[in-house]
Amino acid sequence: MRTSCNIVAEILALLADRVKPGVTTLELEEIALRETTKFKAKAAFKGYCNYPNALCCSPNQQVVHGIPNREPLKSGDILSLDYGVLYDGYYGDAAVTLAVGTVEEKVARLLSVTEESLYNGIEKAIPGNRLFDISYAIQSHVEKHGFSVVRDFVGHGIGKRLHEDPQIPNYGTPGQGVLLKSGMVFAIEPMINEKSHDVKILADGWTVETVDGFLSAHFEHTVAITENGPDILTRLAGA
Ligand code: MF3
Ligand code: CO
Repeated sequence: MRTSCNIVAEILALLADRVKPGVTTLELEEIALRETTKFKAKAAFKGYCNYPNALCCSPNQQVVHGIPNREPLKSGDILSLDYGVLYDGYYGDAAVTLAVGTVEEKVARLLSVTEESLYNGIEKAIPGNRLFDISYAIQSHVEKHGFSVVRDFVGHGIGKRLHEDPQIPNYGTPGQGVLLKSGMVFAIEPMINEKSHDVKILADGWTVETVDGFLSAHFEHTVAITENGPDILTRLAGA
């Protein structure tokens, strides 16, 4: 899993570097596919439940599962990039949300609070804790800053399958949920809305958007629980 997760981290870093006004998400999709082939890996999302592409690109009010298209990004946009690969029988999965060009201060705050909430959740991924200790750490940080946690989509166990048990909600009661043990691997992925947590799925059957049209951010890491603490497998080596 370390190898597949490293590949995801490398590719997401490369894509993040390309995110600029004028670039289209279909161009990012092509780069992701080309790089995945170079690593002799397989794009995890393409064909998964008939998802049409390799990369999920969710700008602005899109929450997750946005489909790459030919529309150029503009300065002031935000863009969530979610990517997964299969390598040597194991999956890796991660996501980041990036500012395109210059964004307003309050938009930058949504991104930083969402990313911080992911790391607060990861801190709780240690043997002896309960699953919803992770969930609560995410929720409390987000709500303290006036943002809201999406209810309808959750993180997940990951390994020989992209989605394994348990489901990992980004809200919950601390001290509850399954006991965390060394060797478990989780994809922890807060999806955080600027205003209301309500979301809807568009007619394409995939794209998830906020109902109120306000912004949404998404960060994800694949994390192994070990006796020495959480091991963030999709962290870029050297970062
Ligand atoms: N990171 C997302 C998830 O874990 C990506 C899934 S997109 C899909 O659910 F196309 F594969 F469904
Ligand atoms: Co995931």
